[in-house]
Amino acid sequence: MVKEMTNEAYHIPVMLNECIEGLNIKENGTYVDLTFGGGGHSREILKHIGPQGKLYVFDQDSDAANNIPDDERCLFINHNFKYIKQFLQFLKAIPVDGILADLGISSFQINEKDKGFAHRLDGPLDMRMDQNATLSAADIVNGYDEKALLDIFNYYGEIKNAFKLVKEILTYRQQHKIESIAAFKEAIASCIPPREESKYLSQVFQALRIEVNNELKALETMLENTPDVLAIGGRLVIMSYHSLEDRLVKNFLNTGNIKGEVIKDHFGNKQSVFKIITKKPVAPSEEEISRNKRARSAKLRIAEKI
Ligand SMILES: C[S@@+](CC[C@H](N)C(=O)[O-])C[C@H]1O[C@@H](n2cnc3c(N)ncnc32)[C@H](O)[C@@H]1O
Repeated sequence: MVKEMTNEAYHIPVMLNECIEGLNIKENGTYVDLTFGGGGHSREILKHIGPQGKLYVFDQDSDAANNIPDDERCLFINHNFKYIKQFLQFLKAIPVDGILADLGISSFQINEKDKGFAHRLDGPLDMRMDQNATLSAADIVNGYDEKALLDIFNYYGEIKNAFKLVKEILTYRQQHKIESIAAFKEAIASCIPPREESKYLSQVFQALRIEVNNELKALETMLENTPDVLAIGGRLVIMSYHSLEDRLVKNFLNTGNIKGEVIKDHFGNKQSVFKIITKKPVAPSEEEISRNKRARSAKLRIAEKI
């Protein structure tokens, strides 16, 4: 039995109807929610599948386990979604009829001071989604060399004054260890544009978060495994929140590989793994954005395995 609960305090699910439509749910199908979080999307999937349906949900943050519905059709896997194939193989769940990923972090994670994701809260400079992971944002700013830091802020954050930012971090850390968000903000204070403080810090924090959680590599590995996991006609539904993720998803859906290299057969015909269902990414409605600010940068792409 599904225990009905709304969990909007944890996270408001983004483009809920669009994701459910995208999954094209079969009554007794098997589905995977790779980013369970508050379980908003999962609970809706459970409403659409029948008694023989099955839902496997992943989240690397063990706090998400507090949201597991009381429903025997749903199994929670507290691991990184890059292991999708291994877990589903072990559980004899392959092939599946649909996979959903709603990338990034939940509102709960952002609002938890101790997780250290939010520049407006003074928590530890942590940013690990997986409590068992060893690398924190503090380890990066205190330990990485100049080149490695520059790469992170240039590539993951697209920070315009990355060179100055890194210089300030290197200077500050000669005197003090940077362990809290407040100390980090003090270290980089002279780099923050006065009228764009929040935007700038969001980009800097995003860059660190991507590195801490190795987010792009996990996304690549997960995407590369999806063709082996999906049934023919199975749906892949991915929602991303920044251009680095969206580019990977777009390339992969279009070509079946991460680099986006078009592969042709002997006759010059393009070889495809997926039929693209959304030629352009789907964006949330104005109404949804006004209700839920966090939805504003979401891009949804849907494809079907052929
Ligand atoms: C945007 S939230 C998902 C919210 C969810 N759709 C809902 O409606 O509540 C993303 C969740 O995915 C998890 N996550 C992100 N990357 C992950 C990864 N590589 N493996 C497993 N979980 C991941 C995060 O811990 C977070 O709880």
